Amino acid sequence: MDHFAYRDGRLCCEDVDLTGLAARVKTPTYVYSAATLRLHYQRLHQAFSTLDPLICFSVKSCSNLSVLRTLGGLGAGMDVVSGGELARARLVGVPPQRIVFAGVGKSESEIIAALGRPEDDEPAAGFREPIALFNVESEGEFQLISTIAENLRIKARAALRVNPDVDPVTHSYTTTGKAETKFGVDIARARDFFKSYDGHPWLKLCGVHVHLGSPVSSPQPYVEAIGKVLSLIDALEAVGHRIEVINIGGGFGADYTSGQALPAQAYADAIVPLLADRLERKWTATGRRTQVVLEPGRTIAANAGVLLTRVQYVKTSGSKKFLICDAGMHTLVRPALYQAFHFIWPTSVAPQHVPAERTAKPGVPGLEACDVVGPICETGDFLARGRDLPPVAPGDLLCVFGAGAYGMSMASRYNSHPLPAEVLIDGTRAKIVRARETYADLVAHELNAQDIAGS
Ligand code: LLP
Repeated sequence: MDHFAYRDGRLCCEDVDLTGLAARVKTPTYVYSAATLRLHYQRLHQAFSTLDPLICFSVKSCSNLSVLRTLGGLGAGMDVVSGGELARARLVGVPPQRIVFAGVGKSESEIIAALGRPEDDEPAAGFREPIALFNVESEGEFQLISTIAENLRIKARAALRVNPDVDPVTHSYTTTGKAETKFGVDIARARDFFKSYDGHPWLKLCGVHVHLGSPVSSPQPYVEAIGKVLSLIDALEAVGHRIEVINIGGGFGADYTSGQALPAQAYADAIVPLLADRLERKWTATGRRTQVVLEPGRTIAANAGVLLTRVQYVKTSGSKKFLICDAGMHTLVRPALYQAFHFIWPTSVAPQHVPAERTAKPGVPGLEACDVVGPICETGDFLARGRDLPPVAPGDLLCVFGAGAYGMSMASRYNSHPLPAEVLIDGTRAKIVRARETYADLVAHELNAQDIAGS
């Protein structure tokens, strides 16, 4: 469910007409719905409420400050994977106690920032406390974080990211929970890891983290992975380690086609019973609560955002019809990179062309197969291939649905196209939350070439 719908043949986001909006802000433009962000966050929150989890929005999926502020305002924490994402989370005022930090390549300066000592030139550098949790991905990383924490005399907490060797049944590029991916530590090595590092005076190893991949369209891989994690925790606790945090990562699906994704409740129905009784019993027996962390990105943001793009030219080449748009792989790379499906439809259509559902074959009459492509000088630059669409003419506006997650956050300036604008809609109000880049922005860091001292 989302707040993008056709009214009298014109696509609206909440109460704003998108054809009119695009005329004002130009294209390509990402548009987000605040009501949809809230709806998706709240559904997840409600579905998992028995566990009282910390829901950390995965900043990599959609990192616009206004989106983060909307979710942070509902009580969401943030899952970050870089110093830049951490800076964003801080800037919108997310308390450090609600920030977790994953990623296999944390640098020294990123670790220092996460311990509450950011560089002086960082926005919101005033914040001085360490984040809630480092999701540690290797022995070397534990050693580096603990050394830095000790040198700075700052106490921090860590969860070990384990690799459970569970197949999330998704694209190989976004599979992370199988052995032989670069993520986490083999679950078989986790006991030795705890033996070596638990009890460190500056970096408390007190949790287990797992993230399987994205999107994971069934709860089954979670059930399998959580089963393995709970057996590991039993083994760890049996020899005296204390586990205070279980972080089950993100990965829940989104509706790239209508009804494709399971509702949050379906994941919760499978996952909550595995954890609820057990954590309750542990609480009663020891007086210590185990915190559950979730790291959803896509399931909150994907259907809360669309990409608006203008058709520049319509061209026939060989047997194919091409719609050449002002957005392409530089604006939304998912189709080119993962062969991902995004439903695409004109924002303004005749009554018989209002789609009843978002699928490759929406079952309306008078469609023609088109390749929807961008301006980039690569054959791999496409948003859709062989897609059935109603009649489209140059100047028409197309909407690419389900683009709120891993859309703008993966956009590039390839072929020196400035990054698109971003708009956030809330009811009748539309706000530009990221200005369209200009050619001056494109070259700003290149104008003053400087000699490197000593070279
Ligand atoms: N936690 C960790 C440790 C992750 O690596 C990710 C995603 C998430 C949480 C959030 O996963 P989500 O709930 O959004 O599925 N660019 C790809 C997706 C890459 C996902 C990377 N990690 C795409 O466009 O499909």
